[in-house]
Amino acid sequence: MPGKMVVIFGASNVLWMVFTVSQAFKMEIFPEHRVIAQIGDVISLTCRTTGCEPPSFSWRTQIDSPLNGKVRNEGNNSTLTMDPVSFNNEHAYVCTATCGSKKLEKGIQVEIYSFPKDPEIHLSGPLELGKPVTVTCMVPDVYPFDRLEVNLMKDNKLLKNQEFLEPMERKSLETKSLVVTFIPTNEDIGKALVCQAKLNIDEFDFEPKERETTKKLQVYISPKNTVISVSPSTKLQEGGSVTMTCSSEGFPAPQIFWSKKLDNGNVQLLSGNATLTLIAMRIEDSGIYVCEGVNQVGKDGKEVELIVQEKPFIVEISPGPQVIAQIGDSVVLTCGVTGCESPSFSWRTQIDSPLSGQVKTEGSKSTLTLSPVSFENEHSYLCTVTCGRKKLEKRISVDLYSFPRDPEIEMSGLLVSGNPVTVSCEVPNVYPSDRLEIELFKGESVIESKTFLEDMDRKSLETKSLDMTFIPTTEDTGKVLVCLAQLRVGEMEFEPKQRQSTRMLHVNVAPRDTTILVSPSSILEEGSSVNMTCSSNGLPAPKILWSRQLSNGDLQPLSENSTLTLTSTKMDDSGIYVCEGINQAGISRKEVELIIQVAPKDIQLTAFPSESVKEGDTVIISCTCGNVPKTWIILKKKAETGDTVLKSRDGAYTIHKVQLEDAGVYECESKNEVGLQLRSLTLDVKGRENNKDYFSPELLVLYCASSLIIPAIGMIIYFARRANMKGSYSLVEAQKSKV
Ligand SMILES: *[C@@H]1O[C@H](CO)[C@@H](O)[C@H](O)[C@H]1NC(C)=O
Ligand SMILES: *[C@@H]1O[C@H](CO)[C@@H](O)[C@H](O)[C@H]1NC(C)=O
Ligand SMILES: *[C@@H]1O[C@H](CO)[C@@H](O)[C@H](O)[C@H]1NC(C)=O
Ligand SMILES: *[C@@H]1O[C@H](CO)[C@@H](O)[C@H](O)[C@H]1NC(C)=O
Ligand SMILES: *[C@@H]1O[C@H](CO)[C@@H](O)[C@H](O)[C@H]1NC(C)=O
Repeated sequence: MPGKMVVIFGASNVLWMVFTVSQAFKMEIFPEHRVIAQIGDVISLTCRTTGCEPPSFSWRTQIDSPLNGKVRNEGNNSTLTMDPVSFNNEHAYVCTATCGSKKLEKGIQVEIYSFPKDPEIHLSGPLELGKPVTVTCMVPDVYPFDRLEVNLMKDNKLLKNQEFLEPMERKSLETKSLVVTFIPTNEDIGKALVCQAKLNIDEFDFEPKERETTKKLQVYISPKNTVISVSPSTKLQEGGSVTMTCSSEGFPAPQIFWSKKLDNGNVQLLSGNATLTLIAMRIEDSGIYVCEGVNQVGKDGKEVELIVQEKPFIVEISPGPQVIAQIGDSVVLTCGVTGCESPSFSWRTQIDSPLSGQVKTEGSKSTLTLSPVSFENEHSYLCTVTCGRKKLEKRISVDLYSFPRDPEIEMSGLLVSGNPVTVSCEVPNVYPSDRLEIELFKGESVIESKTFLEDMDRKSLETKSLDMTFIPTTEDTGKVLVCLAQLRVGEMEFEPKQRQSTRMLHVNVAPRDTTILVSPSSILEEGSSVNMTCSSNGLPAPKILWSRQLSNGDLQPLSENSTLTLTSTKMDDSGIYVCEGINQAGISRKEVELIIQVAPKDIQLTAFPSESVKEGDTVIISCTCGNVPKTWIILKKKAETGDTVLKSRDGAYTIHKVQLEDAGVYECESKNEVGLQLRSLTLDVKGRENNKDYFSPELLVLYCASSLIIPAIGMIIYFARRANMKGSYSLVEAQKSKV
């Protein structure tokens, strides 16, 4: 149907012609008067009669167009069903019921609409801060759109309201849109964009009359600050590996893409991971690598250049350019190659002497084992490696040392205060001995040191020693003697470079100041007791040994006690007693003479041939002591003018050619510490009758058994007394003083 068409509900109430029928015959129509249905839905119109059994029904549109529905008559009822409702159902429908001659007619207006879906919000692109964005709110399949009203709200504030009042060209479902452009700001993040569509058909009740769609505003940030970190370096060696990590900021988080720039200008995508690890790099892997951070709103790239360098041909010798080894140890020299597929090795000494070692080559490594290392190995060794046309040589020098043991300290003898002693400090099997220094410390101070520079260039193990003589004193006891040996082999690393030994000093003191104390006296009466106490100083404290000197000079040991006690002494105990103070360092000796005395008795004074002699005769006056040795005998002639001491010989006094005046009283006094005995006789001299001398000199020998009669009796007594006063007595000394 051409021409414009406007639907006006309500205003176009059809005037129904009502036929006059009998009262009993009635008709109703449902729904009453008018109804609105959505396109696509199902709607039924029912015509019901009462008072006729059964009536006949007919349906028509007012303008006589097709019904576009199905009629179903059931007794008193007739139903017109439109399934689905379409534009063709927008009519006024008339139901006619005929009961015999009676005819009833009722009309109903069917209106249609379409509002099937919520509005759709479309953005012209991702929301980016500061970039204008166009929001389209689209309401699909609307009818009649002139009743449509669309509101777009952002954060509850209206952005735009629109109605679509333009005339409808034809009946159709239209999709209507509202378009708004705005610039997103930070405040917009997370806020809601609401599109609300209303179909303003107030005359009818239907649901929904209003539909809305909400969209949360998501504001994006384009990738920026893209950073690449490279580990270990952008410069690599052939075969090496590198790890590159890329990061980029943005929202949502940018995805990272790694690619490599090709020579033709294209790029080759490598990975979609932030971390890119490249292994076994080749020269041709050098180039520019690009990292790109990409998200919905943009991308940001960064470049890095990797340079892969050719692997150099390197020869390395270990343990270093120099190795120091102890003679007898095992040394392994290793020559290793990098950057060569199949190297060939050769070893030699610098002076082309035999290697004196074992070579073992395996792959990129060759070893020379010197075991045990000896003087023959003290060289510079050269390892030559050939790789194709390239040739490299590395040198290692083998230096030796020997310093296997700590020094040994020896003393020439016992340490005795005041006696020189020689300390020797010996360092065995040293090499190189010209680098050896031996120092001897007493306590903190160095008392001697020695070097052996004269041994230069001697290739042998040497045993070196330092000798030092000193005189120890008792103060040295407790000090430590340290022998420090140092092998000064410069900058070379080995252990130990010094060794030391220590010795604690214990200085002995030889026994001295040996003294004997005799209590009560060295001259004793037979039967009494005597204590002889001996003491001696020294370190360690001397041991005391008492002995008795036998007549042949030998010593008979008696006691190791310091005090020697003799009880009830007999004359036989007389003699020389020797005390010895003894320790490791020596002997000190002292003697004492013990004299056991007996009181003089049995003294006999005789005159020979008789006490009565003639003038001119030879007479011998003799005094003999019986039992007692060491008895002082004094022979005197008594006179009124004074006694005369006679020079007797062995107690005998010989008067040759006796004179008258020789007559008189002769007295013999025998005396010792213990007692005194006197004897006297009177010599009678008669006048000479003849001169005949019948005395035979041989008869003059008289004995005083075991007696000791000395002419200078007075002197002897003096010395004896003096000696007694000192508590000891030396005959030898007494004799010496006498001379
Ligand atoms: C139709 O209407 C009549 C009278 O009102 C009634 O007697 C009859 O039972 C109805 N028939 C049906 C099928 O409802
Ligand atoms: C006729 O219509 C009425 C009301 O809509 C209904 O109750 C009744 O069952 C219908 N009768 C038949 C025979 O369809
Ligand atoms: C990225 O790394 C993950 C594990 O870290 C791995 O599973 C994935 O395959 C990698 N993707 C690419 C493209 O290499
Ligand atoms: C000897 O020594 C002992 C013990 O000290 C003592 O009892 C005794 O009297 C001493 N003898 C003499 C004669 O001094
Ligand atoms: C040494 O003295 C001890 C006690 O003082 C004594 O028992 C011992 O007999 C003495 N030894 C000698 C050999 O006199």
